[in-house]
Amino acid sequence: MKLSTSLATLSLLGLSLAAPSGRQDPPLLTNVTVFDPPENYTVPRTLYARVRALECGTLLATWENYLPTDNPDETCPDNCPINPYMPIYQSTNQGRTWSERAKVYDQVNGWGLRYQPELYEMTEDIGDYPAGTLLLAANSIPADLSVTKIDVYASTDKGFTWSFVSNVAIGGLALPENQYTPIWEPFILTYNHQIVLYYSDQREPEGQNNTLGQKMVHQTTSDLLNWGPIVDDVHYANNTFRPGMPTISELPDGNWILTYEFYGAPEEAFAVYYRISPDPLTFDQREGVFLSPRDGTIPVGSPYNVWTPAGGPHGTIVVSDGNHRELYLNKELGAPDAWTSLATPAGTSYTRSLLVLPHNPSRIMIIGGGVLGGENNSVLVTTIDLNE
Ligand SMILES: *[C@@H]1O[C@H](CO)[C@@H](O)[C@H](O)[C@H]1NC(C)=O
Ligand SMILES: *[C@@H]1O[C@H](CO)[C@@H](O)[C@H](O)[C@H]1NC(C)=O
Ligand SMILES: *[C@@H]1O[C@H](CO)[C@@H](O)[C@H](O)[C@H]1NC(C)=O
Ligand SMILES: *[C@@H]1O[C@H](CO)[C@@H](O)[C@H](O)[C@H]1NC(C)=O
Ligand SMILES: *[C@@H]1O[C@H](CO)[C@@H](O)[C@H](O)[C@H]1NC(C)=O
Repeated sequence: MKLSTSLATLSLLGLSLAAPSGRQDPPLLTNVTVFDPPENYTVPRTLYARVRALECGTLLATWENYLPTDNPDETCPDNCPINPYMPIYQSTNQGRTWSERAKVYDQVNGWGLRYQPELYEMTEDIGDYPAGTLLLAANSIPADLSVTKIDVYASTDKGFTWSFVSNVAIGGLALPENQYTPIWEPFILTYNHQIVLYYSDQREPEGQNNTLGQKMVHQTTSDLLNWGPIVDDVHYANNTFRPGMPTISELPDGNWILTYEFYGAPEEAFAVYYRISPDPLTFDQREGVFLSPRDGTIPVGSPYNVWTPAGGPHGTIVVSDGNHRELYLNKELGAPDAWTSLATPAGTSYTRSLLVLPHNPSRIMIIGGGVLGGENNSVLVTTIDLNE
């Protein structure tokens, strides 16, 4: 009696009864614009978007940013290009609105930061850099594409200002064909008090022209300045094969999952594969498995993975590919027969990426920068809820 009276009182007052815990999730987001470039941007305008959540809850996004090639500075010589920078955009309301926090310029090569940004918040002190330092790794490449250089920048003020830290590796002409020797696609994690940087590598033997297609490798550092030897993560003897686009997540059973695209896969060119390893530095000893959802879909191209504690006793591995709007879920720690598909309202993107939202781990944010060659690309975020 007393309860219904107070419910009635609440109703009369027009109060919602839906959120007794006091914490209310914001509405799910569909194609919220992070950045829509001006008309004068060069096709494909934007690509390869990344989003990370800082410890404080702020979301930061970055992407490949295709500036206009016509330099309005008339005093500039004919061959003076506009060097691209990596934008850093911020959201303090879980993705509903976005604004610019910084532009990260190339401070050492005079070429710009052109491709494949990776953003990371350090979880522990490494060298002189305290936990909470942000890292941005990117491929610095001149306008003629003749060199690929994976450089690391750091920010000790949450991404407002940035300084060059070190160069990890240098490769040749930035074209994805086997006779060239570029490096691509950095991805960062922390393991055993070291920063590990994974990337795709067309150089082999080192310093000579490529004879072995592409492989994936990593290098580690204990001070962010000196990088250790190149260690293979996925390499195949067949010199037409090109595994690439490494991303890695830690699983709750002590294993790690690496997903990658595999040009050379029998299922389809660039089919998505994965490896599970008890040590994220020894994936090369593990067997590659085709990511095969039960509905028969063949995931293809530019995968990205995250693990969330939501969705079951083992949590959920969530994987995106480059050719489908669906996500692929695995609630059995990566068991090959346990992959399912989940429809999403997000469009496809070249290397769409994922974030487990910190306020509610059943919520996954998808960020996409559009498709290769896209004339109308913009950077969009969508959130989905694994429980809905
Ligand atoms: C591109 O367009 C924007 C917005 O109209 C303008 O502010 C900017 O100066 C233009 N950039 C170039 C290089 O023309
Ligand atoms: C690499 O290829 C270039 C162009 O095809 C050639 O000029 C050069 O001699 C080659 N270098 C080696 C080490 O094979
Ligand atoms: C490499 O793979 C291709 C495509 O599957 C195949 O045609 C070729 O025979 C393989 N080469 C070797 C040396 O195994
Ligand atoms: C979201 O945007 C993509 C284009 O990136 C489009 O294909 C898709 O239909 C949009 N989703 C909805 C629900 O409008
Ligand atoms: C981009 O947008 C313009 C204007 O809406 C349209 O004419 C064009 O077909 C679009 N291009 C692509 C590749 O969708």
